[in-house]
Amino acid sequence: RAEAILRELEEKCSTPIDKLRQVADAMTVEMHAGLASEGGSKLKMLISYVDNLPSGDEKGLFYALDLGGTNFRVLRVQLGGKEGRVIKQEAVEVSIPPYLMVGSSHELFDFIAAELAKFVASEGEDYHLSTGRQRELGFTFSFPVRQTSIASGSLIKWTKGFSIDDMVGEDVVGELTKAMERQGLDMRVTALVNDTIGTLAGGRYYDNDVVIAVILGTGTNAAYVERAQAIPKWHGLLPKSGEMVINMEWGNFRSSHLSLTEYDQALDDDSLNPGEQIFEKIISGMYLGDIVRRVIWKMAEEAALFGETVPPKLREQFTIRTPVMSAMHHDTSPDLKVVGTKLKEIFGISSTSLKTRRMVVKICDIIARRGARLAAAGMVGILKKQGRDTPPSAGEKQRRVVAMDGGLYEHYTIFSKCLESTLSEMLGDVSESVVITHANDGSGIGAALLAASHSQYLGVEE
Ligand code: BG6
Ligand code: GLC
Repeated sequence: RAEAILRELEEKCSTPIDKLRQVADAMTVEMHAGLASEGGSKLKMLISYVDNLPSGDEKGLFYALDLGGTNFRVLRVQLGGKEGRVIKQEAVEVSIPPYLMVGSSHELFDFIAAELAKFVASEGEDYHLSTGRQRELGFTFSFPVRQTSIASGSLIKWTKGFSIDDMVGEDVVGELTKAMERQGLDMRVTALVNDTIGTLAGGRYYDNDVVIAVILGTGTNAAYVERAQAIPKWHGLLPKSGEMVINMEWGNFRSSHLSLTEYDQALDDDSLNPGEQIFEKIISGMYLGDIVRRVIWKMAEEAALFGETVPPKLREQFTIRTPVMSAMHHDTSPDLKVVGTKLKEIFGISSTSLKTRRMVVKICDIIARRGARLAAAGMVGILKKQGRDTPPSAGEKQRRVVAMDGGLYEHYTIFSKCLESTLSEMLGDVSESVVITHANDGSGIGAALLAASHSQYLGVEE
């Protein structure tokens, strides 16, 4: 009976190449629709107001705040301009107490501003006092935001583990600015960016060929460089560069080619945002472990996977986090010791047969590979939209670089290897010119770079 459940899962989660091509094509189609009009697609294709990526000329001392991934971070970045290009960095990393993710915006922003104030207070020499300049900040806010300029925008909806009703529709920078004032902190946000945009900007600073950024972490999303003329819904002036960076919010992608299992459906029903972020819910780190838990739970209930009893914790959401899933999946010991230990630690199951442990590893494998292969298909969809899924023509750049970040990509090796091999499988020869770079921390640096290129002191001599 357990085998039958496994077989059914495997079949429902299978992602043969033809299906992946359909997903990639659907992604391209939805990208067009989302660019054509507001609300034209599940893909919001948000305009970032970044029409110039970093050039290397950025200079000065800037700050970055990073909210929305696993940790909340504050960075201080010294940009040295073309000659120097030195980057001095100091950072603090704090995890957001879970109650703040579902409380009030006031509390959340007070917490952030207080951390920022602490960080600033700990600085040694005060460059800003000596120059008489206001501190400037790039704010990476990793949620969908409808921007009205590079430094303002309202929250469209929360995603991942956040849900603070009074914040939806509000100006994100306004809220942060008010909280900074409450802390007596004189600082100005000069750039508001999504983590994908920060990663793209940070990636481009180090490598001129970066044209796409992908986050595979708690959530998943992608940004890319679009031709401004290919954005019908953009009614502003055409930027001089002729380009605009788009935050796709691909986590909300949905297509009839994504077949959902009963486990995906139940996960969605129980989530903070039912019916939303379906692509994200089958790919990203916040959810993968919980899909695995749901399959194990069914096997325990219906096929007595652990004998007579069903451990109560199996019924609790998120008791298998993705790092645990990854540890079990990477277990290479002959008797799958790690799997046994984890099942014991989390669910109190004192002994499990090797057959059961193998079954658990197989479930992890099915769920991780489906996610990785679908993420690869999404990337092919973007390359297609950019016309970069075919061999470069004469005179065209050979390399197309994807800046990648996020804990899932960084720590879940089987997942990232599978993503890369799927890309090669889908792109054939072209895959040789597509390079993935791990832009660790890139989004913080990217936000600081964008804060610098939108500084109020631009052109003012020091
Ligand atoms: C970090 C970036 O490295 O990765 C963040 O600086 C980003 O901006 C994060 O949100 C995503 O990964 P995770 O695993 O922390 O969600
Ligand atoms: C979620 C957010 C998105 C972010 C992604 C990765 O999908 O909605 O804005 O980029 O997570 O952190």
